[in-house]
Amino acid sequence: MSAKKIVAGNWKMNKTLNDGLSLISSVIESDLPSDVLVIFGTPYIHLNEAKKLVGNKPNIGIAAQNCHHEDKGAYTGEISIEMLKSIGIEFVIVGHSERRQYFGETDQLVGIKVKKCLDNAITPIYCCGESLEIRESGNHISFVLNQLQESLGDLSNDEIQKVVIAYEPIWAIGTGKTASPEEAQEIHAAIRNHLSSSFNPSIANNISILYGGSCNAKNANTLFTKPDVDGGLIGGASLIAEDFLKIINSY
Ligand code: PGA
Repeated sequence: MSAKKIVAGNWKMNKTLNDGLSLISSVIESDLPSDVLVIFGTPYIHLNEAKKLVGNKPNIGIAAQNCHHEDKGAYTGEISIEMLKSIGIEFVIVGHSERRQYFGETDQLVGIKVKKCLDNAITPIYCCGESLEIRESGNHISFVLNQLQESLGDLSNDEIQKVVIAYEPIWAIGTGKTASPEEAQEIHAAIRNHLSSSFNPSIANNISILYGGSCNAKNANTLFTKPDVDGGLIGGASLIAEDFLKIINSY
């Protein structure tokens, strides 16, 4: 077996409900490859309608872009895993660099959220990635492996194989500057080797490692040909049905 191919959209704070639903409709009504899991990461308030729209269509999933780490309580404005589960959500993007940067999420907190998802049978799409400064210092691999260790290091074999990893260099997110296929492959291979030695080789081979950061309809194809790139987490280009479809069909 090898890792599942996944193309996940992260809409961030974009799209009204109607615009979002019509984007999803255009994508799911198209001819989609049968071996790619397509995920729409919508704003919270669209999740319920989005889930109803896709129903139980095979290979289509809906993701929240965050969740709170506590089960319930006095956390004004927050959303719990139980609430997400109650509307059938199967995926949560956890630890996106924008959450880390603007909302102070640490590796430790991200690790708690990952565990909370797993305890509730929700698949976390765990994000990691370095800043430009770290990339330029040449320490990007050790930085990312340390993020992984801090957030995922305590998971069991059974748990880690249910995690999807998204490597997203911060310098590439929304900048139009993509990691080259070789740069992506280098770090994806390092992540897989790390998983292989921390857990075991067969688990490592089955974990999907997605690339994110200005991945688009033009460059997805060359990124996805790399052996350790199992798909993408797509921001800007997931907002336009035609572009997102091209990316989904890029294998
Ligand atoms: P981008 O965003 O594709 O717009 O660079 C990716 C992400 O932040 O997930």
